[in-house]
Amino acid sequence: RVYPTHNITWHEGLSRSERNDLRKQKGFTLWFTGLSASGKSTIATAAEQHLLHLGLAAYRLDGDNVRFGLNKDLGFSEKDRNENIRRIGEVAKLFADSSTIALTSFISPYISDRKIARDLHSSDKGDALPFIEVFVDIPVEVAEARDPKGLYKKARAGEIPNFTGISAPYEAPENPEIHIRNDQVTVEEAVAKIMEYLYEHKLIE
Ligand code: PPS
Repeated sequence: RVYPTHNITWHEGLSRSERNDLRKQKGFTLWFTGLSASGKSTIATAAEQHLLHLGLAAYRLDGDNVRFGLNKDLGFSEKDRNENIRRIGEVAKLFADSSTIALTSFISPYISDRKIARDLHSSDKGDALPFIEVFVDIPVEVAEARDPKGLYKKARAGEIPNFTGISAPYEAPENPEIHIRNDQVTVEEAVAKIMEYLYEHKLIE
């Protein structure tokens, strides 16, 4: 690939399969999506811990945390969220390409943004990097009742504009690979469901 206007040329390094063979691990992305306070970070952290205990390389990228650094220039307008998710999609892909399991926990409220992140994972030559969308699903009333950071309360009081589920949209996945009804399962059950999917699809052995 060449972008003549920028004088840059794609450099072919090791192949993905060569890297996977040497690391003895396949990389992929577990993309968690859900409302604020849905439990996506809790489940993603527990899944990350479980995978690390199995001796696998795994790393979680988190909404709040990434916004302290890489994405500190972005707010919560639709345009900024688009850019937030585009960048995370690229970073997750880099982790997956390095034969690591990337776990991302971002609200990622727009279907089109999640599709961009998914498509990035199959945009190169060679095998696509698996992209597994995990919908952490709870009714907005339950999230609002939980409100661990007091954000729903602030949003209702008009102190946070564009708050997802209150004054900004959340577009639920239509066909997620994994659907967790998080008002009905424990964290352990949620992790077990994810692990079952990974074993079944031979993403881990
Ligand atoms: S997004 O929509 O994917 O770009 O959001 P994300 O990067 O995951 O950041 C969500 C966390 O930011 C806090 N926060 C808000 N959330 C939603 N809407 C608004 N307006 C907002 N302002 C701040 C909140 O702590 C979110 O964290 P979680 O873990 O989802 O509760």
